Amino acid sequence: MAKILVTGGAGYIGSHTVQFLLRAGHDVTVADSLVRGFAHNVPPGLLRQVDLTDTPSLIPLLDGVDAVIHFAAYIAVGESTKLPELHFWNNSAGSISLLNAMAQTGVSKIVFSSTAAVYGTVDVSPLPETLPMAPENPYGESKATVERILDWMDRCRGIRSVRLRYFNACGAEPGLGIGEEHDPETHLIPLIFRAIESGKPITVFGNDYPTLDGTCIRDYVHVSDLATAHLAALNWLSSGGATGAYNCGTGHGHSVLEVIRAVEEATGRTVPYVVGPRREGDPARLVADATRLKTQLGWTPRYTDLREIVRTAWEFEQFRLARRSA
Ligand SMILES: NC(=O)c1ccc[n+]([C@@H]2O[C@H](COP(=O)([O-])OP(=O)(O)OC[C@H]3O[C@@H](n4cnc5c(N)ncnc54)[C@H](O)[C@@H]3O)[C@@H](O)[C@H]2O)c1
Repeated sequence: MAKILVTGGAGYIGSHTVQFLLRAGHDVTVADSLVRGFAHNVPPGLLRQVDLTDTPSLIPLLDGVDAVIHFAAYIAVGESTKLPELHFWNNSAGSISLLNAMAQTGVSKIVFSSTAAVYGTVDVSPLPETLPMAPENPYGESKATVERILDWMDRCRGIRSVRLRYFNACGAEPGLGIGEEHDPETHLIPLIFRAIESGKPITVFGNDYPTLDGTCIRDYVHVSDLATAHLAALNWLSSGGATGAYNCGTGHGHSVLEVIRAVEEATGRTVPYVVGPRREGDPARLVADATRLKTQLGWTPRYTDLREIVRTAWEFEQFRLARRSA
C-alpha cells in the first residue's frame, strides 16, 4: 500500500483513478479546488479543497506521500486559444507550484496527465512517442512545457515521472455514479447524448477529410483503462523505472460518423446531426501507437469495442439525468 496524492481527483479521469487506487488498497488524498470538478465525485473524507498555484497549502498534503498523480488542469482547447494566459497559469504554473512543493518535501515520483495534443498535426498514424512535441494550441503547449520541465526535474532534482499522453478519454466505470460531465462539455460522446436529449442536432465538423467516410478519426480510450494505466505507471516508478512519456490509447481509430452510429446502436435512439465546415487545427486522424505502454509498463486495455464503451457512458448519462431531476 502506498500513500498517493491525486490532484484533480474531483474531475472525470481523476475520480475514476481514485476508485481504482482505493480498490488496490492505496491510501488516497485528493487535492482539488473544485474549479471544474465536483465534490460528489470524491468518496467522503478524501477531498482537500486547495488550488495548485498555492504552494504553501500543498506542503502539508505531501507529508509522507509516496507519489503524486497529477490530473488538475484546464482542458478546453478552444478556451486556451482565447485565454492562453489562463491555461499557462493554471496548467504550467500550477504544475511548477506542485513540483516546487514536491521538491521541498522530498516526494520524488509523479504521474502526469499529458495529451495527444502535444504532437500537433502530423501526417503519421498511429503516432509513436518518438515524434517531436509540436503543439498547435496553448493547451497543448501548456502540457508540453510541463513535460519538458519534468525532464529537468529528474535530471536536476531526481524527481522521476511518467507522462501519460491520453488520446480521447470516454466512457464510465459502471455502477459508480461518476462519469464525464465537463462544463461546458466539448467532448463528442456526451455532446451526442445532449443532441439526443434536446433534439438539437450536433454539428459534425467537416466531412471532406481523407478518411473512409470523410469525418475525423480519433482513438477513444475508456476512462477505466486510463485508470489502470496510472496504476501501471505507479508500479513502474515504485520499482525504480525511469522517467518517460507513454501514449495512452487503444491503437484503433473511429470516425465521428462511426461514433454516431455506435451511439445509435447502443441507445436505440436516433442522433440528429448536421455537417458543418472543418474546425481549424483539427487533424484528420489521431491514433495512438501505445506499444511502449503495453510492453514496458504491462498495460492492457480492457475495452476494445466502441459500442460497449458507449453503453457505459450512456449508463452514466441516465444516472446524471436522474440525479439532476431528483
Ligand atoms: N478528458 C480527456 O479526453 C483528456 C485527454 C487528454 C488529456 N487530458 C488531461 O487529463 C486531465 C484530467 O482531465 P479531465 O477530463 O478529468 O478534466 P476535468 O476538468 O474533469 O478534471 C480536472 C480537475 O482538476 C481540477 N483543477 C483544475 N485546475 C485546478 C487547480 N489549479 N487546482 C486544483 N484543482 C484544479 C478541476 O476542479 C477538476 O476537478 C487533465 O490534465 C487533462 O488535460 C484529458
